[in-house]
Amino acid sequence: MNAAPDSVTRLAVLASGNGSNLQAILRQIAAGALPATAAMVISDVHNARALQRADAAGVPSQVIAPGDFPDKHSWNEAIAAALESAGVDLIVLAGFMRILGQPVLARFAGRVLNVHPSLLPRYPGLKTYQRVLAAGDKEHGSSVHFVTEQLDGGPVIAQVVLPILGNDDALTLQGRVVGAEHWLYPLVIRWFVSGRIEMRGSRVWLDGRALGGPVRFAGSDPE
Ligand code: GRF
Repeated sequence: MNAAPDSVTRLAVLASGNGSNLQAILRQIAAGALPATAAMVISDVHNARALQRADAAGVPSQVIAPGDFPDKHSWNEAIAAALESAGVDLIVLAGFMRILGQPVLARFAGRVLNVHPSLLPRYPGLKTYQRVLAAGDKEHGSSVHFVTEQLDGGPVIAQVVLPILGNDDALTLQGRVVGAEHWLYPLVIRWFVSGRIEMRGSRVWLDGRALGGPVRFAGSDPE
């Protein structure tokens, strides 16, 4: 269930690295364009740049690093406990480089989103830019999807599709894809917090209808 319409959705953003998507989300919240509260940022990495961004925005942050726990299960339990004590409604994975397990996913079923830099189901996993260039593909992009136990395998909500240019290398392509994620991800989060999208089984429902496939955007911010 999404949050009741009269309450503001409380987001937790989980990030392992740079946190530019976190920043884009915080910017939209601050601008009043995303009706949500950033309740907390969690990182699995002690010195992640995302933590500095959270501090600068006055968002509480916490490091929950797997190395500080005896096993994956207790690490997952610690994350679930932190999320629950902060009253989190929606988990937003933004460059979070770990796989969440049952202790979190069972408690937050249908309430975990991820952004993945490929046109899923193509190129799940790492190094998507290198792989897409090596394959000679003509287009690349990014996908926002509901998270399930299958790595990068949950139902895809929306994608941005970008042409690959003749002189692209992994860095130039990544620059354009991540730039597009900065409007795509907040847009999909807005759909969620306003109750427009929902995961039912393995399908995405948007505005009360099952999607036949992801909503696709070509290139630039539709708004
Ligand atoms: C993004 O490109 C996202 O697709 C992937 O990790 C990257 C994170 O970038 N999952 P940032 O940390 O938000 O800058």
